[in-house]
Amino acid sequence: MGAYERSIRPLLFRLDPERAHRCALAALRGASALPGGRTVLRRALGAPVDGRLAVEVAGLTFPNPLGLAAGMDKDAVAVAGWFALGFGSVEVGTVTPCPQPGNPRPRLWRFPEAEALVNALGFPSAGAAAVRARLAGRSFPGPVGVNLGKNAATPLERAAYDYCAVLAALWDVADYMVVNVSSPNTPGLRTLQAPEQLERILERLATLDRTAARVHGAPERPLFVKISLDIEPVVLDELVVLSASAGVAGLIIGNTSTDPALRPRGAETLPGGVSGGPLRQRAIALLARAAERAPAGFALVSAGGAMRADDVIERIRLGAHLVQCYTGLVYRGPGFAAAVLRELLRCLEERGLPSVQALRGR
Ligand SMILES: Cc1cc2nc3c(=O)[nH]c(=O)nc-3n(C[C@H](O)[C@H](O)[C@H](O)COP(=O)(O)O)c2cc1C
Repeated sequence: MGAYERSIRPLLFRLDPERAHRCALAALRGASALPGGRTVLRRALGAPVDGRLAVEVAGLTFPNPLGLAAGMDKDAVAVAGWFALGFGSVEVGTVTPCPQPGNPRPRLWRFPEAEALVNALGFPSAGAAAVRARLAGRSFPGPVGVNLGKNAATPLERAAYDYCAVLAALWDVADYMVVNVSSPNTPGLRTLQAPEQLERILERLATLDRTAARVHGAPERPLFVKISLDIEPVVLDELVVLSASAGVAGLIIGNTSTDPALRPRGAETLPGGVSGGPLRQRAIALLARAAERAPAGFALVSAGGAMRADDVIERIRLGAHLVQCYTGLVYRGPGFAAAVLRELLRCLEERGLPSVQALRGR
């Protein structure tokens, strides 16, 4: 057990979960804004910067395969700080076109025995303009993705307009985009994973992306689809085929779960989706299946219950190009990414492999 788990986590866990999250975010933003703060953070945590960790995905270079999952920094307040902790990419959002408060509180709960969270946040967002202001004119040591969402007041049939509005507003300040059709906390959103609906949304986003690329004279932005971990395996097969033929860069597998079988004890009657430990097996099974079916060049991003370095390594070996985490950070603390990366390097050395890319599928 590290220092975070021994001394800081018990204090943070005495606070209401949302308050603890706000404090952690403010501390990271503060520390990384100090002159030299990011270097001090990186050195103190021992986060390695090593070419062997770099991965090429969807035409982008990721300094390492561990990404911060969407939801942790919805409004892009501490992006540079996450990179200083060691993450190789940061996905901000979900961002909605207009600001909105999300669902009423309480809406976030911890279940330490299961190393899980349950959240029913419902996309609280500062809105696309505020996120744009925080990202514009800045550069970061790795790719920044924007997770696209819809406002609660927008009817489901018009979801594509909201996704397009956020994509247009943030196109030039993001490296990749993610269409979120899998949050359980926006009524009906997961029905957009149905092939006819998803195809239409993807078509619109692709057209807009091409136009933006022409206007800006820059390359198109890779688009990922973030799917639910509650889908049937055959639906996953369809989504791989559909997404690949629609020109999507890859799938993020996946979002929080509402499956009663995965609820930690005490969470049976709560609304919202489970994250963390209980998702591990499901995320791994769906990743393995997608890896068998995905065409060459189609990226797989694994998320859900990656709580330890060996979880991350296992997923890369199963075929994940990138691994994202959220809940692991809550339970393992700010040194989590650095610890995972050190272990990854050790694993490469042990196996005599030249790079993380060589670990994939072995
Ligand atoms: C409190 C909380 C908020 C989240 N918000 C979002 C979100 O806004 N958009 C999204 O795509 N995923 C969101 N997620 C899902 C995570 O990105 C991730 O897919 C999921 O938690 C599984 O990963 P984990 O087990 O490492 O947490 C959220 C998760 C949590 C716990």
